[in-house]
Amino acid sequence: MEKERILSGMRPTGRLHIGNLQVLENWCRLQDDYDCFYFVADWHALTTAYDDTLNIKNNIREMIADWLAVGIDPAKSVVFVQSKILEHAELHLLFSMFVPLSWLERVPTYKDQVQQFKEQGKDIMTYGFLGYPLLQAADILIYRANAVPVGEDQLPHVEMCREVARRFNFIYRRVFPEPRAELARIPLLPGIDGRKMSKSYDNEIGLAADTEEIKRRVNAMITDPARIHKTDLGHPEVCVVHKYHEIYNLKQLAEIEEKCRAGKIGCVACKKELMVTLDALLAPIRERKQEILSRPGYIDEVLQEGIKTARHEAAKTMTLVREAISI
Ligand code: TRP
Ligand code: SF4
Repeated sequence: MEKERILSGMRPTGRLHIGNLQVLENWCRLQDDYDCFYFVADWHALTTAYDDTLNIKNNIREMIADWLAVGIDPAKSVVFVQSKILEHAELHLLFSMFVPLSWLERVPTYKDQVQQFKEQGKDIMTYGFLGYPLLQAADILIYRANAVPVGEDQLPHVEMCREVARRFNFIYRRVFPEPRAELARIPLLPGIDGRKMSKSYDNEIGLAADTEEIKRRVNAMITDPARIHKTDLGHPEVCVVHKYHEIYNLKQLAEIEEKCRAGKIGCVACKKELMVTLDALLAPIRERKQEILSRPGYIDEVLQEGIKTARHEAAKTMTLVREAISI
């Protein structure tokens, strides 16, 4: 029996952080049961950063190295870069002819994002940014993917993708499956200051962080403000360090909670435990990443291979699409 096809992508916004780890681990798990296509969405990066492109090439390289270091296996998955597969753009253009403007305007994140960027002094009321979800639909449908592993924030985009597939199939003929979102229960890891983890807040821990960075970042984590002395009774539920123990240190979690509440462990010692835990978690990733980056030409080879396969599959779909439209 043929395997179902999975597709997902990430924008190349720089090196990944520990908050991305569980998403990637989920991608890795899917590799055994599905035909997986994983790509770097560099055109999507341009929708908000069209004037800041100097780092894109390097960001792509870093991102691929991170993926491979976590366990994305090019022998199992097709790994590629969006802008190398021109068919995404052709399909996006053809979709744009029949997708009502209102579908794009009503995507819940659209107005929020425009507003958010406006507050930072940036106008992204562009044609391209409005079309972001439609380009994403083309990314998915060009491979006739069955499922899209994404976070909850992407659900409206996948829903719109299904509507685009339905409309195409209705107007012309059936070419596309309606892909489902494959939600994994991924715990949200806060940044060291308790806000959403993000490079723009400078509160992240790199996916391949070294021991020094881990120490520095854990030391700067916000703890329970009610604790000044070790003997003060703590409230782990308000503490960022505890959130991390909850996800990555299940073994010691109960003990840490109990001691914190009873004022029997100091925050310094508690952070120390977390540093050791995170270092053990990230050390193999950073070693593999180093190894991958040190092999000359390796990333290019992986991408070339992936691009070849992706192009082949995309071309097959475009033949069906052009036939269906009679163009
Ligand atoms: N919008 C996605 C994000 O910000 C990235 C993306 C682009 C994507 N095209 C995609 C994800 C296709 C899944 C499928 O995370
Ligand atoms: Fe947080 Fe640990 Fe301090 Fe409790 S002891 S407040 S869990 S750092």
